[in-house]
Amino acid sequence: MKLIQLYASMKSELQSIEDEMARTVTSDLPILSETSLHLLKAGGKRIRPVVVLLSGKFGNYSLETLKKVAVPLELIHMATLVHDDVIDDADTRRGQLTVKSKWDNRIAMYTGDYIYAKALTVVTELDKPRIHQILSGSMVQMCIGEMEQIRDFFNVDQSIRNYLRRIRRKTALLIAISCRLGAMATDAPARVSNTLYTFGYNVGMAFQITDDLLDICGTEKAIGKPPGSDLRQGNISLPVLFALQDPAIRDTLLDEIKRIRAQEGQAVSSAAVKLVRSSQGIGMAEKLADRYIAKALKALETLPDIPAKRNLADIARFVAKRSY
Ligand code: IPE
Ligand code: IPE
Ligand code: MG
Ligand code: MG
Repeated sequence: MKLIQLYASMKSELQSIEDEMARTVTSDLPILSETSLHLLKAGGKRIRPVVVLLSGKFGNYSLETLKKVAVPLELIHMATLVHDDVIDDADTRRGQLTVKSKWDNRIAMYTGDYIYAKALTVVTELDKPRIHQILSGSMVQMCIGEMEQIRDFFNVDQSIRNYLRRIRRKTALLIAISCRLGAMATDAPARVSNTLYTFGYNVGMAFQITDDLLDICGTEKAIGKPPGSDLRQGNISLPVLFALQDPAIRDTLLDEIKRIRAQEGQAVSSAAVKLVRSSQGIGMAEKLADRYIAKALKALETLPDIPAKRNLADIARFVAKRSY
């Protein structure tokens, strides 16, 4: 099934999650509602709620229960984006101005904190402490991942392993637990929720590698922000690390990265982006993303053969091929 058909088939459930998110972030302080709704209304793929709902099909499916997991997970994702745009000094997201750009960094800080807090108020309506523990544990890991990203800005000598550890924390774990918590909330067997976790983890790794590839190869229209934003910021991603392994371009690319650093991230370096685009780095990163997708699909094999299983496989295949 194409992804668009999958979303269409889940339309009413997704709408109900959308309504609940809007209701959750609407406060009696207008500025907080305004900043939160600004990002919410800008859209997004809603991948995390979608995998929560599909994972919930492996247990005793209940939209009311699953909402209490799907809404917090998407809100946590959103809060992280608000903060991430401060860290990455990004002006556009989802084709709109970022909160930090439309308002300012201070407002973005508290908007993010506010959305996090609201996420917690929803999940604690579920009387399942293990779910609260897993959720808060993943928030801790995301903070570590984002801090590691700051620490590693402009570090051209970091290892691939280092990069993979960072994206595991900042991105893959949240997708992994979206799958696990969907299954746990509906009391699916532990074996199933663990398998879904492995699926989500591998999809999540491929998801961030693809995000990093899109930042180099995508168009502004498709990705909702100017390409090259990562390099401008000093975020040395997988395609760049692989490109640096090619002795034929290494020195030129290092010089370009030095130049970006000297300009303090003022402008996107089109020369550096071009170099990486035409390097071996793209193919190598794509190959690694494909390997994660293959692992995700393999994990699914042991699950009961219900339609949700095929839908999850479609999502995994979309992640590897996505262009937005
Ligand atoms: C963007 O996530 C940040 C990453 C973890 C790569 P998404 O690509 O899921 O962002 P939206 O929600 O669709 O905008
Ligand atoms: C994902 O990394 C950020 C989070 C996990 C919050 P990016 O910095 O690559 O995300 P985008 O590209 O800004 O969406
Ligand atoms: Mg960013
Ligand atoms: Mg990115």
